[in-house]
Amino acid sequence: MASQHHSLPRQVRLVEVGPRDGLQNEKATVPTDVKVAFIDRLAAAGLRAIEATSFVSPKWVPQMADAANVMACIARRPGVVYSVLVPNMKGFEGALAAKADEVVVFGAASEAFSQRNINCGIAESIERFRPVAAAALAAGMRVRGAISCALGCPYQGEVTPEAVGRVARLLRDIGVQHVGVADTIGVGTPAKTQRAMEAALAVFPLDEVSGHFHDTYGQALANIYACLELGIATFDTSAAGLGGCPYAKGATGNVATEDVVYLLQGLGIDTGVDLDRLRAAGEFVSTALGRPSASRVARALAARETGTVGK
Ligand code: HMG
Ligand code: MG
Repeated sequence: MASQHHSLPRQVRLVEVGPRDGLQNEKATVPTDVKVAFIDRLAAAGLRAIEATSFVSPKWVPQMADAANVMACIARRPGVVYSVLVPNMKGFEGALAAKADEVVVFGAASEAFSQRNINCGIAESIERFRPVAAAALAAGMRVRGAISCALGCPYQGEVTPEAVGRVARLLRDIGVQHVGVADTIGVGTPAKTQRAMEAALAVFPLDEVSGHFHDTYGQALANIYACLELGIATFDTSAAGLGGCPYAKGATGNVATEDVVYLLQGLGIDTGVDLDRLRAAGEFVSTALGRPSASRVARALAARETGTVGK
């Protein structure tokens, strides 16, 4: 990899997206009280940023239909930023009423994915986000923007770094403060990841660029390391590796928070997260969903405790 100008960051901020990206993709309805308990356990584990839910159309994503209730029932911890996804002003009104700390508008670097996910093209999506960003800033909320399909699209294939840079500029120009570069279908590899991140870094400062990696092809940890080499210090991760997008078929979960915490601990990078309590939160939700955790670290540590391996 060519770009190794920075030493690795000493601290990393993890944005836990399991309750949103993770649960939005579940077929069976997850009860609101399970979502709430999951979020509260994540906050207790030391996560300081949690994407709690989405104010989207319940016809499009039925699993997020209880967004207002989830926000009303969680125990808000001081110092934790609770963010929510909003695609338009209707979603923003929900976020405002729910007193979300931060809203996330979600665009794409691919026209085809934008159409499938939010039913409009890239230019039209920016026009829908414009009043959202203005209203959020006026209300004292932070505004993040996600760029889906930054490393490849399930409908249109190749996506260039230039396309990522273009959407990053459009988002910046409407007042979005932070941009998340997302590998929605997990196809990226480290050198390509660095090119996409550099396109975003040409528009946003280092602190305001994050990586969001689905682990479909097993590349997410390598891609995170490639981002660390660029000095990027914010990543979206998902406890127990939950996740996927209903409009990106075949895409598996986000990189597991447990696996990223383990990686960062090994590098001496502080996250403020207690791995044992995080594992307990991941186990709680995995049990509720009736399947094993997708986190390699959670599974390895559980196996060690029950004496099956590693002793
Ligand atoms: P549309 O059908 O074009 O919307 O959908 P519309 O404005 O024509 O409204 C149609 C109906 O939806 C109306 O209801 C509206 O009131 C309602 P009706 O009159 O028919 O009863 N509606 C809403 N209801 C609740 N909340 C709202 C809302 N907006 C309209 N905010 C829309 C356009 C954007 C709404 C729809 O396509 C949608 O909700 N899409 C969401 C898709 C989604 O949530 N995808 C997953 C999240 S993105 C992701 O996972 C990627 C990410 O993780 C990064 C990565 O990995 O790439 C972030
Ligand atoms: Mg995602």
